[in-house]
Amino acid sequence: MNNEAIGVYDSGFGGLSVWRELYDMLPAESLTFLGDGKNCPYGGRSKAQITAFADAAVERLLSEGCKMIVVACNTATAAAIDTLRSRWTDIPIVGLEPAIKPACERSRTRRVGVLATAHSLAGDMFHRTAARYAADVEVVTAVGEGFVEIVEQGSENTPEAAEAVRRVVEPMLARGVDTIVLGCTHYPFLRRQIEEVVGDRGVEIIDSGKAVARRVADLLDRLSLRAEEGHRPQYRFLSFADEEYRSRLQAKAFDCTRH
Ligand code: DGL
Repeated sequence: MNNEAIGVYDSGFGGLSVWRELYDMLPAESLTFLGDGKNCPYGGRSKAQITAFADAAVERLLSEGCKMIVVACNTATAAAIDTLRSRWTDIPIVGLEPAIKPACERSRTRRVGVLATAHSLAGDMFHRTAARYAADVEVVTAVGEGFVEIVEQGSENTPEAAEAVRRVVEPMLARGVDTIVLGCTHYPFLRRQIEEVVGDRGVEIIDSGKAVARRVADLLDRLSLRAEEGHRPQYRFLSFADEEYRSRLQAKAFDCTRH
């Protein structure tokens, strides 16, 4: 048993799409969320830069006593997970990968779309996963240009957001994909806009949030790290940006638990 918090980290707001699944699935667990904010977006940055940000974030969460870390960011996972795990060998560190495997299993057209940041799509992890699970599947990739900025500004429900999503998703649909993987934790906040572009074409949209929460639950059990039953959890929000950003993170987190 361990009542310390699980540390959840992202470049910004996106990791809240993972946070909300942890909140739902693990009601006794305290969660400390760190949304960098100061250095977001990470997507166009170098591996060395992202690794330095991720390293500082994990260090901060561990200084708060976290018992486990969830890197709720595909980009930071692609850039830094090996470095983080080799630095902190005694702390379980869970990363995020685009859900290519379930997408390939479900696709009937054998064409799968993957939306992610430029850094994630260029990384070894993406190529390894695609080679492993998508041997007989055509993988159509696209960067969600502008998506992270839209979510950071909280302007998901605007005509500009709808247009940005349409610009990226339409060409993917024209290539015949029947499954779209959201390979960046910011993108689930644009799910409704993506669904509107998809319409009634029978395209499935998959993100990794629930699968990660299940993986965390499993690791807590295997490592005897679960909080006591009935433990009253605490939810904390940290950022490398200013107090205004930190309090917006907190507000968005509780807002997304209501949906
Ligand atoms: N939320 C992030 C991801 O899952 C990164 C977004 C960014 O900072 O570019 O990839």
